[in-house]
This record gives sequence, structure tokens and C-alpha cells, in this order.
Amino acid sequence: MNKFLIQGGIPLKGEVKISGAKNSALPILCSSILAEDKCRYLNIPNLKDVSTMIKVLETLGAKVSKDHDNTIIVDPSGIALYEAPYDLVKTMRASILVLGPLIAKYKKARISLPGGCAIGVRPIDQHLKGLAKMGAHIEMSHGYVLASTKGLKGARIVFDKPTVGGTENIMMAATMAEGKTIIEGAAKEPEIADLADVLNKMGAKIKGAGEATIIIEGVKKLSKATHTIIPDRIEAGTFMVASAITKGNLTIKGARVDHILSIIEKLRGMGVVVNEIGKKTLIVDGNNELKPIDVETAPFPGFPTDMQAQTTALACIADGVSSITENIFENRFMHVPELMRMGANLEEKGRTVLVRGVNRLQGATVMATDLRASASLVLAALNAKGTTEIRRIYHLDRGYENIDKKLLSLGARIERESGGL
Ligand code: UD1
Repeated sequence: MNKFLIQGGIPLKGEVKISGAKNSALPILCSSILAEDKCRYLNIPNLKDVSTMIKVLETLGAKVSKDHDNTIIVDPSGIALYEAPYDLVKTMRASILVLGPLIAKYKKARISLPGGCAIGVRPIDQHLKGLAKMGAHIEMSHGYVLASTKGLKGARIVFDKPTVGGTENIMMAATMAEGKTIIEGAAKEPEIADLADVLNKMGAKIKGAGEATIIIEGVKKLSKATHTIIPDRIEAGTFMVASAITKGNLTIKGARVDHILSIIEKLRGMGVVVNEIGKKTLIVDGNNELKPIDVETAPFPGFPTDMQAQTTALACIADGVSSITENIFENRFMHVPELMRMGANLEEKGRTVLVRGVNRLQGATVMATDLRASASLVLAALNAKGTTEIRRIYHLDRGYENIDKKLLSLGARIERESGGL
């Protein structure tokens, strides 16, 4: 298994370009199932999760090719199997996003239940409730969801809580249902609007994506689309923290400032200087003394749960006591004991972590547990005195394109070593 060796204490300097959003690329790749013809997607990040999604599509019978580093073409015409098997779903929960398109286009689907994951139980009850309301017959059998229908019908679906994946699955299913679907209490994340954009290019009739109410008029067929994926707001936020935690000065290019306002606000609240240069570039200067901060994660436009661990790492070296509350997932503090091994002073109290700032973190051997927890360990290591060994970095390769190469180009001392635990 690969590991990172990071020597901390070097202020990062230079320019970094943000890659395409993982959480946009995954549902958009699934939306190709609905198309009659080849779809072409640009700015797809080169990530493990993306290659897993490509495997899911190939298992169904789609042909997937690359015509350029970050451009992927999906030809869905050969799809003849309607199943996402356990081995693929267990490595990536987002495989569940083939359910909506499969049931809409082929009227049946057999998808492995995702089960628990490192950050909590993560049920899919809202996805299934919505599909049932649209006329899908849902059964559970031997760890699989079996869904079938004579034809989906538009319906009014009210989510009990905003769910990103649930909104995406229902929105994709509704594009080919008969009549009008209204989704209320929809998630408003930018990735939902990006998915709606590509579906509308294919001929879907979706209004209101990115807002709490989405209205979809079903159509009979969807054609092909060419689409450029939006930039990854979490990668942008992670590099902003990298600048602050190393007292560096980074120019972050190719971001969407309007997607990261809550992150900018919190970092400014900590004393980090963030200058916006137009709508796509940020200069982040970390030279100021860091102040403590209170953060509560919330659905978009609130502070993203996917930035919670990285912000906790930064709060570890602020001058005072910060409070970080996780409201989205019930078990998303696995980075806490690892950060404590690096000298952080953290106290977990239910859904909140109290962070008492220390001067500097210390290098240690730590274990990555999930994607964003791993990012927080890399950030902590960039600050720490001495060398940090981060094991199980395959989690990082799931969601950050070339993270080590990007950090190296900014002056970080980071090495990838293979072998070991
Ligand atoms: C997506 C993101 C993930 C991010 C999360 C929250 C992708 C591929 N992943 O995950 O990076 O952390 O949004 O912003 O886009 N829930 C239910 N029932 C359901 C569905 C969800 O109770 O049917 C709960 C979940 O357990 C969680 C909350 O709702 O507590 C939000 O989950 P959801 O928005 O669905 O997250 P994902 O789409 O899985």
C-alpha cells in the first residue's frame, strides 16, 4: 500500500490549478445511461472514484474511451445489463447513482445496497421513497435493491432532509417519467445544477436545480451532450487551507468563487487574507496569526461537511479555542485521534470537537481513514515539525487529482512510497 512521507514547515508558494469536481463527474457519468448517443465530458478529474464509475458503466455494457487526458466519451448504446454489483458499490457508494437512470430508461435495475461506510450509516431511504412515489416497485433481496416499473410517472416528492445523491437520482429518473415531477426540499449543491445543465443539454426539461424546489417535465428521449465539469470546490478549499496552515501564499486558479463563499468567509474569520481576483482566481495569504473559529457544517450554501476535517486541522494551530460541529454525518471525526497523535489538543463532545490551538503540530505516523480525513492529515503534516508518514493514502487518490504532484510544485516536501501497511 502506498504512503506519503511529508516534511513540514515549508510555506507553500506559487500557483495551483483546480481540477474538475469529483462530485459532479460521478453523477454526470451516470446520466449518460439516459442518452441515445455518445456523450463527451471535459474536465473529468483523473481519480480512482472516476475509474470505479467507468467500471460500473462498462459492467452495464457502455463503451467508455478517452480522447484527451481529462476528456471522457461514453457510448451507452450497448447497455444490456441493469445491475451494479456489490464489489463495485462497496468501493464507491456513488455507484447507487445508476439506479435513477436505469429505472427511467430500462424500467429495471438491480443495485447492491451500499451499507455503512467510514463516516456513518448513510441510508438511501429517500432515494427509494422518491422512486416508489413515481411508480417504481422496490424490493430488497439478498443485499440488493430490485427496482422495476411499467413506466415512471411524475410525482410530488418531498424529501425529509436534503440529500445530494437522492436529489440527483430522482432528478435523473424524472427526466424520462411521464408528466411533471416536483422535488421539494431538494439539495442545493452546485453539483446538482451542473447535472441539471448536462441533462438539459440532452433535451431534459428541468427548472430550479440549485434551489429547494426543482420541477422536471418528463420527455420521451434524451440525446447526446458535450459538457465541461465545474471545478472542485472542496479541492479549492483544501488548497486554501494548505496556504494558511503553512503560512504560505498561493494563487488558486480555475475555481468558482461563488461556490466557496462559506469557506472564504470562515478562513477570513480566522485572519487568513483571501483576495478574489475576478470570479475564478483567489490569492490566499497565510502570514497572519490565526484566530480561533466556530464552524457548523450545513447543506449548501452552508459550510460543507467535506471541508470539516481540513478546517479542524487548521484550527489546531489557531491562537485560542475553536469549536467544530458536524451536522451532516454522525461519525465524521476519525481524523481527531490521528491529529492528536500529531500533538493537537482536541476534545470530542458528541457532534462537536473543541480545538485548543497549539503552536505547531509534530510529525508522526498516522493512518488515513476516509477521503477528507486523509486530506486533513496531509495539511497537518505540511505544518508539522519533522516527518509525518501517512499510511493508506488510497483514500486521497479517490478524490484529489495529483495531490502530491500539485503540492511538490508549490514547494512542499512530499514523497510517495509504495509498500508497507
Ligand atoms: C454527497 C457527496 C459527499 C458529501 C455529501 C454531503 C457525492 C458523490 N458525495 O454524498 O461528498 O459529503 O453529499 O454534502 O456527491 N441520508 C438519508 N437518507 C437518504 C440519503 C441521505 O438519511 O436516502 C442522509 C445521509 O446519511 C447524510 C445526509 O442525509 O446524513 C446527507 O447525505 P447525502 O446528501 O445524500 O450525501 P451523499 O449524496 O451520499
